[in-house]
Amino acid sequence: MANVILITGASRGLGRALAEQLHDQQLALVARHPFEGPAGSLVLTADVGLEAERIVQETLRRFGRIDILINNASTLGATPMPELQNADWRDVAQVVHTNVLAPLHLAQLSRARIVVNISSDAGVEAYPGWGVYGLSKAALEHQTRTLAAENPERIFVAVDPGDMNTQMHREAVPDADLEQLQDPKVVAARLAGWLLHAPQSGRIRVSELVESAR
Ligand SMILES: NC(=O)c1ccc[n+]([C@@H]2O[C@H](COP(=O)([O-])OP(=O)(O)OC[C@H]3O[C@@H](n4cnc5c(N)ncnc54)[C@H](OP(=O)(O)O)[C@@H]3O)[C@@H](O)[C@H]2O)c1
Repeated sequence: MANVILITGASRGLGRALAEQLHDQQLALVARHPFEGPAGSLVLTADVGLEAERIVQETLRRFGRIDILINNASTLGATPMPELQNADWRDVAQVVHTNVLAPLHLAQLSRARIVVNISSDAGVEAYPGWGVYGLSKAALEHQTRTLAAENPERIFVAVDPGDMNTQMHREAVPDADLEQLQDPKVVAARLAGWLLHAPQSGRIRVSELVESAR
């Protein structure tokens, strides 16, 4: 039976690639601006930080349950990214709201059996200029570990996708060498294969997953 999968940030980048990869599942897709999803998907125009209740209600109304939640929507905050020591605390609060509190709220409301929180190496390593985003991803990682400890019967996983050629990366590093960046479709194929066949709680780096046939 197809899984009901709620993917946030599904209009472009990794979220869109995941939706295309998982098109044979029952998909609810979220972004703030209107977009088109695969045939049969429920497309919701909503801000994850403001409308978690509506997102979950409309998904349950259409599909009756949520099996897998993929918290992928994320923000860098102000760009060019300031050093943490100079960051406006209101901007930090906004980033935490979108990247940490919204994923928590959606996990609480959805009661999904599997919750995938898309994180970053910036949530583990400290890089000057990445502190606002990095502290939010570090909090998201701890949230993931704690929810896993509280719910041994469910799966909570933090995923480091690696550097990808997406709008977010272009905003963060406008002069990046594109040759060094992964195609989000390749990352999505690896992650989707793992998710549907062998998911478990913890932290994974997509670069360490083997390509799996879908
Ligand atoms: N790209 C990289 O190299 C990289 C590296 C490590 C980790 N990551 C992580 O991978 C994930 C995907 O990143 P990406 O590079 O694919 O980003 P992206 O290309 O910027 O796409 C972000 C998506 O999230 C949506 N979104 C943003 N804020 C939202 C909000 N408040 N409510 C609902 N939707 C929202 C955007 O659509 P709207 O603007 O229309 O809302 C868009 O669909 C993120 O969690 C990111 O932190 C990325």
